[in-house]
Amino acid sequence: MKFNGTDQYAALIHELKNDLGLLSLTLDGIPQQREREHDATVDAARLLCQSVVDRLQQSLLIYKAVDQPIRPAIDAWSPQDAVHEMRDRAAALARGRIRVEAVLALDVPEIWFFDRDLVEMALINAIHNSLAHARSTLSIEASMTEGCLALTVRDDSAGYPQHILAGGAANAAFQATGTGLGLQFSRLIAQSHDNQGRRGELRLHNDQGAVFCLLLP
Ligand SMILES: Nc1ncnc2c1ncn2[C@@H]1O[C@H](COP(=O)(O)OP(=O)(O)OP(=O)(O)O)[C@@H](O)[C@H]1O
Ligand SMILES: [Mg+2]
Repeated sequence: MKFNGTDQYAALIHELKNDLGLLSLTLDGIPQQREREHDATVDAARLLCQSVVDRLQQSLLIYKAVDQPIRPAIDAWSPQDAVHEMRDRAAALARGRIRVEAVLALDVPEIWFFDRDLVEMALINAIHNSLAHARSTLSIEASMTEGCLALTVRDDSAGYPQHILAGGAANAAFQATGTGLGLQFSRLIAQSHDNQGRRGELRLHNDQGAVFCLLLP
């Protein structure tokens, strides 16, 4: 039997991700003590833990996507369920520090076809970004744009810096606080969705804050 180092590596990352997921759940179980210093420390540990989980998930995706296009597993999902689940996850991460809203436009169909894992990964990254930058609110929205399902994460931060809007995050160097890979990934995830020649898109703009919009054909 040949030792397949790369698969072992992926399995190890997977294992780490699951262990950290459990640690994250354990941290969630620590009750608030209404002591500022204690609660802030635990909250910081929870956020950090969850963002390492999400990052490991990303690294598994990178591993699978090396030298080949991302192949989404398209299935029928409810946009409403997806938005509500993302809202709940964001609210759990924000713990009251930031108000989290869900907004569903009336013309959004009951089902849409997309890879829910991939799309959630993109949205979770946007949510982590918003939690880091928003002043007080963040909203997760579903609407229809140009015949596509638009999944949007909107906040009241200072907005995306000019180089992100201009460069489409393609040239993002490693940042002091992050890898700068999150938005690039989200773009790849959007573009991997294809319906009768219409490709998905990531649109970023500022409107009283940062607006992250994933268009799914
Ligand atoms: N909601 C936001 N408000 C303001 N600026 C943002 C927001 N989201 C992202 N940015 C800016 O865009 C940059 C790139 O974001 P991206 O998610 O690609 O990388 P990152 O957050 O730095 O790293 P990673 O996602 O890997 O942790 C961020 O470093 C930040 O400067
Ligand atoms: Mg990010």
